[in-house]
Amino acid sequence: MSEPSIISERRDRVLLITLNRPGQLNALSADTIAELNALLVPADKDPSLGCIVITGSEKAFAAGADIKEMQDKSYQAMARQDYFAEWETFARLRTPRIAAVNGYALGGGCELMLMCDFAIAGRSARFGLPEIKLGVMPGMGGTQRLPRLVGRALAMDLILTGRTMEADEALAAGLVARLVEDDAVVETALQAAQTIAGYSKPATLLARDAVNRADEVSLSEGTLFERRVFHSLFATSDQREGMTAFVEKRPPVFTGN
Ligand code: CAA
Repeated sequence: MSEPSIISERRDRVLLITLNRPGQLNALSADTIAELNALLVPADKDPSLGCIVITGSEKAFAAGADIKEMQDKSYQAMARQDYFAEWETFARLRTPRIAAVNGYALGGGCELMLMCDFAIAGRSARFGLPEIKLGVMPGMGGTQRLPRLVGRALAMDLILTGRTMEADEALAAGLVARLVEDDAVVETALQAAQTIAGYSKPATLLARDAVNRADEVSLSEGTLFERRVFHSLFATSDQREGMTAFVEKRPPVFTGN
């Protein structure tokens, strides 16, 4: 039996997923996304799961989709299989996801990072969408998610030149949320994940939904959506607990109800 493409480890309310093809710099294969979805689609419904951290190795978060797997494919095969469509299932999961990035996050690796809610990266991390150098273009959401995050000019620069971006530039551009020392990346991401997982799950899920709505709708529609879901949180006991705990000057205990 071949090695699994991912390794998962539950730590209290957080799931740590480590991409596990170090010899291929964690190139994302059909098996990788099949294993991710098989694990995460049911996990997404687990009320006790509060956050997911995805990481790679010291050298590579992931150096892209698996080029060797795609090399000999025909247009017909790619179209018939709707190649990469499974990644949409992953992107639509509701549980918050943090990418913990060391080394290369290129092509599909960068696009996987863009499917997470935010990224914490090490100083040696390198980012890019170099598909153009292979005679193709990004196909896992990069042309859509990257400009929304860093703006059109920088996205065009990265996608059309295929250049690699260093960690400082990625932080300044807003591609990653935090930059830390390489050996602190996973621990920092796990701490952030535990913090998120400690809050009210309904509030966390709806806050995510509201932020994500900004990519889809006008400002007035988005703020209306925000207000309505904000109102809906007053149907939860976590709202009562959070506000009562503040007034009583004690830490809240959220139950997810
Ligand atoms: N797919 C398949 N295998 C890959 C890979 C990828 N994306 N990236 C690296 N590997 C493999 C290499 O083939 C090599 O395997 P072998 O030892 O069997 O030859 C192994 O990983 C180590 O790689 P290198 O020897 O190349 O390592 P390096 O340190 O010299 O270079 C690198 C590192 C600059 C990241 C280089 O590996 C590289 O350029 N990788 C490809 C990056 C890329 O083009 N990514 C985009 C892929 S297409 C895509 O992602 C489409 C999409 O939109 C989703």
